[in-house]
Amino acid sequence: MTARPFAHLAGLGVYLPSRVVANKDFEARLETSDQWIVERTGIRERRYAGAEETVSTMAQAATATALARAGIGVEDLGALIVATATPDHPLPSTACYLQALIGARNAAAFDVAAACSGFLFGITMAEGLIATGQARHVLVVGGEKLTSITDQDDRSTAILFGDGVGAAVISAGAKDGRGILSTFIKSDGALTNLLYIPSGGTADPISERMVRERTHYMKMAGREVFKHAVLTMAEACDEALRRAGVTAEQIDLLVPHQANIRIIDSTAKHAGIPAEKVLVTVDRYGNTSAASIPMALAYAESTGRLKPGMLVLLVAFGAGFTWGSAVIRW
Ligand code: COA
Repeated sequence: MTARPFAHLAGLGVYLPSRVVANKDFEARLETSDQWIVERTGIRERRYAGAEETVSTMAQAATATALARAGIGVEDLGALIVATATPDHPLPSTACYLQALIGARNAAAFDVAAACSGFLFGITMAEGLIATGQARHVLVVGGEKLTSITDQDDRSTAILFGDGVGAAVISAGAKDGRGILSTFIKSDGALTNLLYIPSGGTADPISERMVRERTHYMKMAGREVFKHAVLTMAEACDEALRRAGVTAEQIDLLVPHQANIRIIDSTAKHAGIPAEKVLVTVDRYGNTSAASIPMALAYAESTGRLKPGMLVLLVAFGAGFTWGSAVIRW
């Protein structure tokens, strides 16, 4: 096996649903306000997918851009990973639906279920598939249609989540100095009840009751999630830096999971990374779970915040609990 970097991020793509939902749009039907949402979360607006859109259809557009930027054809993909908590169907994987849409006939396609950390889990899988020779190019998609599992009558979750997709091509080896210098992933299954969907799986199969009781929607213990998010994001920062053999001072851009501006600020403070080196998109996209980091990276690239040669720290946490991080030379 060769040494790190096993792989580099060769191309990014994004899909933003066109419908923008502002905080004030909730004021008419929920007991909330733009001021409360901005102060407690940093969110100003988010995107909502259309009724006909699914994670795979949204991913198709993002994938086309990522492949073009990487300069490879769809037949070059040896694997296709979709990180999502909102699959098109319970069976089979959304990755297989995406494979059919784009015609990636040489790829092994599968989903990763790691909630908001899914993109980082996906990158880690991609590195492994490349290091062991299964693939030279892997597509990693972080995509969500969270509006489909969010209770729009629950003010504590309805305001937080949005839809969107980001896609990245991960290719073998380093290129022009670019490469993934470290990855780190971890979980704590003792915390499943902090953020979960009670019904619809084998523990409580689909029934009329679950719809009546709205247990097919996400349930969240917000304050507890917040506390664990801060702790796990801190551990993830430290571990990715240690594994890459770099210090926080060397990081040019911190791209954290976009859940809440207060969690982002606390993560940056722990790592000792100043605000001007921290990417924030939670104000414009809300929390898009597995899509949040690739959407943020694409935003950073398109606005000139992310340039070749930069050292980037990615860090995420999510339901499970799951958490992860990576250091990438861009
Ligand atoms: N508008 C107005 N008030 C709201 C509200 C809303 N949208 N949502 C909750 N509140 C109320 C609560 O009902 C509570 O009222 P009470 O004191 O009368 O009981 C009060 O605000 C404080 O609630 P609390 O949950 O303590 O607020 P908070 O400061 O922790 O903020 C979150 C709530 C959800 C924004 C915050 O806990 C959070 O961001 N947690 C992490 C969530 C997350 O990141 N999830 C995704 C994981 S990937």
